[in-house]
Amino acid sequence: MQILENYRQAIQHPIFEFITEAAKQLQVDAYVIGGFVRDFILERGTAKDVDIVAVGSGIELALKVAELLPNKPKVQVFKTYGTAMLRYQDIEVEFVGARKESYTEDSRNPEVEEGTLQDDQNRRDFTINALAISLNANSLGVLLDPFDGVQDLQAKIIRTPLDPDITYSDDPLRMMRAIRFATQLNFTIESDSLSAITKNSERLKIITRERVMVEINKILEAPVPSVGFLHLERTGLLTQILPELTSLKGVEEVEGQKHKDNFYHTLEVVDNISENTDDVWLRWAALLHDIGKAPTKRFSKKVGWTFHNHEFVGSKMVYKLFKRSKLPLNNKMKFVQKMVLLSSRPIVLASEVTDSAIRRLVFDAGDDIESLMTLCEADITTKNPNKFKRYHSNFKLVRDKIKEVEERDRVRNFEPPISGETIMTTFDLKPCREIGQIKDHIKESILDGCIENNYEQAFELMLLKGKKLGLTPKL
Ligand code: CTP
Repeated sequence: MQILENYRQAIQHPIFEFITEAAKQLQVDAYVIGGFVRDFILERGTAKDVDIVAVGSGIELALKVAELLPNKPKVQVFKTYGTAMLRYQDIEVEFVGARKESYTEDSRNPEVEEGTLQDDQNRRDFTINALAISLNANSLGVLLDPFDGVQDLQAKIIRTPLDPDITYSDDPLRMMRAIRFATQLNFTIESDSLSAITKNSERLKIITRERVMVEINKILEAPVPSVGFLHLERTGLLTQILPELTSLKGVEEVEGQKHKDNFYHTLEVVDNISENTDDVWLRWAALLHDIGKAPTKRFSKKVGWTFHNHEFVGSKMVYKLFKRSKLPLNNKMKFVQKMVLLSSRPIVLASEVTDSAIRRLVFDAGDDIESLMTLCEADITTKNPNKFKRYHSNFKLVRDKIKEVEERDRVRNFEPPISGETIMTTFDLKPCREIGQIKDHIKESILDGCIENNYEQAFELMLLKGKKLGLTPKL
């Protein structure tokens, strides 16, 4: 962690010199503030997003900087917000005038007045995000840290500059941000903050779904996502965002028979999978793989707790959840649905590995077979070391078998060896139902292992099936 007297090292990029010069010419003070400074001190790599605060007009400063830059970049001005943005080399710089803000009860839109740097730091979300480095010639590189943000970075604490009740109620998105930063950085949320989040959790409703989901995705992309989901659950936020998950919470007992708590199980699965993949959609699949268990839960005296068809029900729920959450309704959603639908298939296989079951699995999963296996391995959360070992070695067997069957039968991206055209010419047919029947029969026979996946054997079978359907081949 970089703890320096002077932070000139942080402002080495050539853009900063131009900002210093522009500020001098306009006679305003300018500072780099927020995430850029935080990430520099944490040595998280040099951030590409730079936030500049001007004690004066941020827009004018941006225009002046653009004028001085050799390539004269375009400045995007957002008049309503009093901000402006430009790009230079690999850096995106946002300019804002220092301001004082006060919020109204039912809106995210604050009333804004011009303010000092200190006013601007006061309105920031966390002490670690309120750190500023001077870009002014007479104090270049000096750190302004009015709330001991550096100390909080060292102690790994998320704390608000002002009373947390005010900070969170002013901008409820910050509740999500607190939890997101705690998860990304492995920081502790200070206890008054946690209570304030719980107290203000209902105010999340004034935040748009899109912005909430940006934070959820960042939590899901963190090294140990359960940290965030546990906070979200305990503070009452999760039930507003993803009630399908909180419905999985709890253990019921009937006649001495219990089922596992599927909420905590799910979080374990998400953490497990995060060790093996950075693909956020596969992590989503892990998060949602059991959501069908709440609506399908039944108890029967004979077999105990059951969740019949929960994979199918769960995969149907994915669409509604994505739509409500303003997540993309494209092939990413379809991938998550598919993973949820197939999530129990390899587990069933692990006890009895037959060639035809493997072939069907590879056929159904297609190119997503690897992802599916990764999900199923992450799903092993048993605390019994013997079982743990056995399940993993069974999955290893399934993986080996998949490779073997794949090499031999090539069913991953199944292309029928006999086309509809061939069937029509052979039997001199116009488009009709029998063509589909023959094609299906060939496909099923290949998947069952009755014939091999090649033209000759498929042609033979086509003739046989055609005969059964009363068709005669054209000579
Ligand atoms: N900020 C805030 N309240 C918010 C959003 C942002 O006070 N709801 C302030 C913080 O000072 C933050 C800065 O604006 O550091 C920039 O915000 P943003 O770019 O969203 O976040 P970063 O802190 O830069 O972090 P990240 O890029 O990881 O989102």
